[in-house]
This record gives sequence, C-alpha cells and structure tokens, in this order.
Amino acid sequence: MIRAKIIGLGSYVPERVLTNDDFEKIVETSNEWIVSRTGIMERHIARPDEDTSDMCVAAAREAFASAGVAPEEIDLVIAGTVTPDFRVPSMSCIIQKKLGLLNAATMDIVAACAGFIHGLSVAQAYIASGTFKRILVFGAEKLSSITDYTDRSTCILFGDAAGAAIIGKSDDDSGILAIHIKSDGRYDELLNIPAGGTHLPYVGNGSVDPKLSKLHMKGNEVFKYAVRHMGDAALRVITEAGLTPDQVDLLVPHQANIRIIKATAARLGLPMDKVYLNIEKYGNTSAASIPLALDHAVREGRIKKGDIVLGVAFGGGLTWGAVLFRW
Ligand code: COA
Repeated sequence: MIRAKIIGLGSYVPERVLTNDDFEKIVETSNEWIVSRTGIMERHIARPDEDTSDMCVAAAREAFASAGVAPEEIDLVIAGTVTPDFRVPSMSCIIQKKLGLLNAATMDIVAACAGFIHGLSVAQAYIASGTFKRILVFGAEKLSSITDYTDRSTCILFGDAAGAAIIGKSDDDSGILAIHIKSDGRYDELLNIPAGGTHLPYVGNGSVDPKLSKLHMKGNEVFKYAVRHMGDAALRVITEAGLTPDQVDLLVPHQANIRIIKATAARLGLPMDKVYLNIEKYGNTSAASIPLALDHAVREGRIKKGDIVLGVAFGGGLTWGAVLFRW
C-alpha cells in the first residue's frame, strides 16, 4: 500500500501579542488563574485586515520551501478551519487564488480543533489510492473573530495562527503509520456558535444578540470528553501501528489546556519530556494547533528522522482524531 507522509511544513503566527496582564484589564481574571487553570501566558492576535487565508499563505510559503515543491505541483488543497474568510467561496479557493495553485481541487473541512487531523486523513486516503500526488493541508484559525471578549471563561483561551503541511508519497518506511478520526454530534451544544447559520441567521439588525455569533463553550464538560477521547484515539493508532506507548518519541497534542495534555500523557504513561508544549506562547489555536506545533518541533530539532511522533486533537462537534508518524 502507498504510504503518505508530510514532506514539508510551515506555520505563521500574527505579530500582535495579548498577555495575561492585558486580560486583567479586559475581564475579571488574573495571570495566576489563567496560568494555573490553562497553562497559557500569551496568545497572538491577527490584525483586523489579516484574513485566515493570509495566514495560510504565509505558512504555505514556508511549507513549499521546506518541501522543495512548486505551487503548480499541488493537486488538492484541504483547509481545516471554522473561521474562513467567507461562507462562500471556500477558504481553500481563496488560498488557491492567492498562491496560484491552478492545478488543484479544493475543499474546506469543518472539524474545529480536530480540523487538521481530519484534513490529513482525507489527504492520506487520496495519496494511498493514487488519486493525487501532492496535497496541501492547512489548519488555520482567526479565532479572535469569533471570540466574545466579555466572556472570561473563553476569551483567555484562544489565539490566531496557521499551519501548512504538504503531503506526498513515502519512498521508505517513514510516513503515516495509522490515523483515526471520529465524531459525536450528540454533544453539539457543548461548543458552538449559536447564530450565523440557517438555524439562526445573524443579520446584525438587533434581532439576534451579537454575542450569539461568538463561540460558546461549556468548558468543564468539554474538558472531560477531551481527556477521554484524546487518550482513546491515541491508544488506538498506537495499537493499529503494532506499537506500544513507550515507543512514542514525541507526543504533539492539541494545545487546548495544559491539564488536558498532562492527563493524556499520563494515560499513555509518557513522561512530560516526551510531550511538545507551546500552549504558553500561543494558547488554543484550534485547527492550527497541531501543524504549528509540528512545524516548531521539527525546526527546534525535537523531531528527528525515524522518530515515532503522535498527534492527537479534540474539538467542537464533538470531533477528535489521532495520527501516528514515523518521521
Ligand atoms: N478568570 C478567573 N476565573 C474564571 C475565569 C477566568 N478567566 N474563567 C472562569 N472562571 C471561574 C468561573 O466563573 C468559576 O467560578 P465559580 O466557581 O465562582 O462559578 C470557576 O472559575 C471555575 O470555572 P470552571 O469553568 O469550572 O473552570 P475550569 O477549571 O473548568 O476551567 C476552562 C475552565 C475553560 C479553562 C477549562 O474548562 C477548559 O480548558 N476546558 C476545555 C477547553 C477546551 O479544550 N476547549 C476546546 C476544545 S479544543
């Protein structure tokens, strides 16, 4: 069977930083509460004129350089996001235009924080079937555009970023060893944006509370499901690959909350020095979280050729997924 692998990675974070001290001036909170309950110290926020697709373009330029691939070689663009530039057309079409990816098909995937792993699983299937040879997968969010900055239980969590990965065929034993995605739509109301779809159109004329067009979350319930499903999904891909948790060299988890990450590592019996963390600098960047962390881990030398790397994510939907690589 043809095995897919990541052949190039790139990422982008906007310049502007919002620190916990800044939040002390916006809502009733404290640096101590935010750090102890989430592990977050600061997050990056996009400029008003900076669209999610602009962040993707910057991330993709790095991915092209690291893969040594030209834009015209891309057959398919997959963008995992819940904050696209427009409802129509898809963000992947906008990215296609901005990068001149004129030989590509395009699609967006809405799977919240698990969006990148969902995109990767689609890419993996297309590579394995031989349908496409070079696929550009994004996880990218401008969460600041859907954050309610009067809600202290959510606004302190989120940041903006983009990550890009170019997927191709593996010529050796490296690549995606196992990948798993899953959802449970019964818990749709634990993390949602109530208005803005056909159910409750947001028209901005005062008929719908503007706050309903922002993210709403029942944080402690989401927390419980995140811990359970991230652990289950991680163990599943490790077992499917015929490996055991102690063979994992680096866990690259979705950076939602340091306590969720520690619980997932503990479930796998992994020491924290085998866990990649950047939550303190970027907060929860939803679909961008895993590709951003993978890109930084590679550039910092935390991931080396031959390493067994485990990615695992969980988000609204509920959606989740895990992927195991031999790098
Ligand atoms: N500063 C100070 N106090 C805060 C606060 C803040 N920023 N946010 C909430 N609180 C308060 C609450 O009002 C509550 O006060 P009360 O006991 O007087 O009612 C108290 O802290 C506990 O709230 P709770 O929501 O139970 O806190 P928590 O320990 O669950 O932490 C989250 C809240 C959001 C950090 C946590 O639930 C979480 O990270 N959940 C998962 C998030 C996630 O992963 N989401 C996306 C999926 S990717």
